[in-house]
Amino acid sequence: MTAMLEVKNLKVAYGRVRAVKGISFSVEQGQVVTLVGTNGAGKTTTLRTISGLLRPEEGEIWFEGERIDAVPAHEVTTRGLAHSPEGRRIFPRLTVEDNLRLGAFARKDKAGIAQDLERVFDLFEILRARRAQPAGTFSGGEQQMLAIGRAMMSRPKLLMLDEPSMGLSPLMMQRIMSTITELKSEGVTILLVEQNAQAALSLADYGYVLEVGSIVLEDTGAKLLTDDNVRKAYLGED
Ligand SMILES: Nc1ncnc2c1ncn2[C@@H]1O[C@H](COP(=O)(O)OP(=O)(O)O)[C@@H](O)[C@H]1O
Ligand SMILES: [Mg+2]
Repeated sequence: MTAMLEVKNLKVAYGRVRAVKGISFSVEQGQVVTLVGTNGAGKTTTLRTISGLLRPEEGEIWFEGERIDAVPAHEVTTRGLAHSPEGRRIFPRLTVEDNLRLGAFARKDKAGIAQDLERVFDLFEILRARRAQPAGTFSGGEQQMLAIGRAMMSRPKLLMLDEPSMGLSPLMMQRIMSTITELKSEGVTILLVEQNAQAALSLADYGYVLEVGSIVLEDTGAKLLTDDNVRKAYLGED
């Protein structure tokens, strides 16, 4: 069986700065896979390249058996790959509901969209209560929920989340992490990028450790959590 997402020898540069230096990894259908690594490791660059927002210098990206590394970003979304970007990037002047509906831009099935909107509201009750309010007035955690909700509105086969826990209180972070587990149980495949290695590895089936543009370690989430080097470098233990 081929993986849902396959990244092969990916190299991405910003001018002369090589940010991703030939990484290969895959995501199987139904899995939660995480890329962990410190600031500057190349995690965001990798997700933006998979989404079609950046073009690789070298390498290949395959999604459901088709090569997508030259496909425009909007078409990548249409094919079933959604991206909740780092720093949320919601539209502050638009209402919660309009922000969410933007996530469904490529869909025409009105009934399905209405159903998914309810599903997002069930998951994040606070968004339902504030559906008519401009999103710019929200706290960081609420904006993060909105960004995840918006990505879900495309009804993705693969959901990519870039640092969903960034800037959140421990309580909010737990809420986001349990939402990821819930989505997984509904059959959504997830590629999770996190600096918070503890949280990400705790729920991931499989993980890759990224250091300055290269994958230095890969294993099941459980194994990486107990790996001595990972504990020292990423979990603040000595
Ligand atoms: N727009 C950009 N222009 C130039 N360099 C960039 C840009 N974005 C990121 N970089 C550099 O690329 C490397 C990887 O960054 P990034 O992918 O954002 O890492 P991470 O998400 O793991 O923190 C870093 O050295 C960063 O400084
Ligand atoms: Mg990043």
